[in-house]
Amino acid sequence: MKIGIDKIGFFAPHLYLDMNKLAVERNVEPEKFTIGIGQEKMAVAPITQDPVTLAANAALEILSEEDKQQIDFVIFGTESGIDNSKSAGVYVHNLLGINPYARTVEVKQACYGATAGIQMAKGHIALNPESKVLVLGSDIARYGLKTGGESTQGAGAVAMLISANPKIMALEEHSTFMTNDIMDFWRPVYSDKAFVDGKFSNEQYILFFSKVWEQYKEKSGLGLEDFEAICCHLPYTKMGKKALQTIWDERTEEDKERISENYKISTTYNRNVGNIYTGSLYLSMLSLLELKEDLKPGSRIGLYSYGSGAVGEFFTGILEEDYRKSLQVDQHRKLFSTRQEVTVAEYEEIFEDTLPVDGSAMELDIEKDPAAICVAGIADNKRQYVNKLR
Ligand code: COA
Repeated sequence: MKIGIDKIGFFAPHLYLDMNKLAVERNVEPEKFTIGIGQEKMAVAPITQDPVTLAANAALEILSEEDKQQIDFVIFGTESGIDNSKSAGVYVHNLLGINPYARTVEVKQACYGATAGIQMAKGHIALNPESKVLVLGSDIARYGLKTGGESTQGAGAVAMLISANPKIMALEEHSTFMTNDIMDFWRPVYSDKAFVDGKFSNEQYILFFSKVWEQYKEKSGLGLEDFEAICCHLPYTKMGKKALQTIWDERTEEDKERISENYKISTTYNRNVGNIYTGSLYLSMLSLLELKEDLKPGSRIGLYSYGSGAVGEFFTGILEEDYRKSLQVDQHRKLFSTRQEVTVAEYEEIFEDTLPVDGSAMELDIEKDPAAICVAGIADNKRQYVNKLR
């Protein structure tokens, strides 16, 4: 039985910052951000969007009423969750009107959370072939104003429906993974901003990639020549390129050209959104699927997932016959073309504009946010969510 991605949705907030303008303001050469790091635009989340609403908006565009009845498991991968106790998925379950007879949990391991969700979903469906699982990867990446990581922030979510006989991509049998307790990136519960040892985290990302790739080749008997593309978790778009460069000595010129060209296409959405942590790998895969129109059904796509701290995994999927028919290309083109630019001053103001943490209430103006699902405020220490379509 084939198990894999049946539908995939994506959402980013309607505001963005031009990285050239951020560079000028930070006294950095713009090419450092646009070429050295590889980011053009950074999605900026207004106070009316949080990881819950981003995920709910991403799922809204893909779920039919029938899906909502069939889903029996909601898995929410995030590392910027809003509660230490209640799963962010439970809010999404309610906001979307998913049937009550579903399990819902939040999964955490830095940017690896959604991958853990997909693998859990695969096991669940192997035992329950009629089931559908909603896997969400949603985050707001915050390092802080004027910090080293500032240029690699972002906000957004990916929602995937995992099922038997999937319409987009069937996951293959082999996957290789590893864990090592390191401090390359972390966010203690008392901080709303991440701490990162940037250079160390780059090294570990590459090291994990080479280890799981070597293991994968051994286990599967496959090599670079068997792949149409390899998509990577992208904290910024230069990162995956650095990892892929470490395996170029295994390639023929043809392999190198194909994998490099497809890698470039797979970074387009990420280059214009920034880091969305748990969703980044899947945003990259979506970029490839939606923007490379001649990508053939039957192609094998490699997926490298990395979550600091750290866990890494390499796994693969095969594109289904009519996969393009199940993509939301026009909707995503519209999402990008209707975004509004903010100035650096506006971005800084939005960054500092956070919900109160002292128990006081706040009401927000959700009319300024075109998203269907928004945070309308906070009262009694409870976030108030609104689905404008209901
Ligand atoms: N033109 C072109 N490239 C330029 C440039 C210019 N004018 N100025 C600098 N660069 C290049 C550098 O050569 C470097 O390229 P390289 O990495 O290929 O060597 C790149 O831009 C970044 O420069 P660097 O000096 O290393 O930047 P930095 O000290 O500000 O750190 C990060 C960059 C990415 C490490 C930092 O932003 C960070 O820590 N981000 C968070 C990392 C993260 O998300 N980690 C989690 C991993 S999963």
